[in-house]
Amino acid sequence: MADSGFRVLGLSTSPRKGGNTDLMLDSALEGAREAGANVEKIHTPGLDINPCRACNACFKTGQCVQQDDMQKLYPKLLSYDGIILAAPIFSRGLAAQAKIMIDRLNCVWARKSILHEQAVSEDIREKRRGLWLSAAGSPRPDIFEPAVPTIRYFFAMLEIKDWDSITFSNVDEKGAIKGVDGALERCRGAGADLLAGS
Ligand SMILES: Cc1cc2nc3c(=O)[nH]c(=O)nc-3n(C[C@H](O)[C@H](O)[C@H](O)COP(=O)(O)O)c2cc1C
Repeated sequence: MADSGFRVLGLSTSPRKGGNTDLMLDSALEGAREAGANVEKIHTPGLDINPCRACNACFKTGQCVQQDDMQKLYPKLLSYDGIILAAPIFSRGLAAQAKIMIDRLNCVWARKSILHEQAVSEDIREKRRGLWLSAAGSPRPDIFEPAVPTIRYFFAMLEIKDWDSITFSNVDEKGAIKGVDGALERCRGAGADLLAGS
């Protein structure tokens, strides 16, 4: 497939490399690549990302004062066409490794809501797409619900109105997702769908 110029960022946030959400992400990125996207995968637990300090310095500048690896992620999060967040359920909510990064988008919130500046350039805003991939050990189908408002907030901060999710409950052991009929194929299709209409 020819290069479409569509860039997809895949964020693997589980500490378990080769785990369920990591495998889901690999399939989604494969689908996106096959559809013509340039893809980049980042394993965020391998980065130096500190929690938000609530210093509120960003309320004046729109920038985070912490000089850690979030500074490399901000431009990608705000400019790539597709953002895939692979984040499992830990302790009945979104894994802390994903949440720590989302909290650091407070400077993006400040840029938009306090400083009334654009965080994402106008020309790419409409074509941006998101995807949340998750897995949980519990068989309860409602296990993902507590995480949904945070995911909604994450995509709203990134000006992504059009986002989808693929979640699998009852998937616990490392790699168990491979035994779930059609699961990785669905992720692959969702990755390709990020480019639909682009
Ligand atoms: C610290 C921790 C807390 C967890 N808490 C929950 C939980 O509250 N509910 C649940 O259904 N599964 C829970 N799990 C299980 C994971 O959601 C499950 O193993 C999932 O497949 C992990 O995805 P991963 O392989 O991408 O890390 C927890 C796992 C860990 C390591």
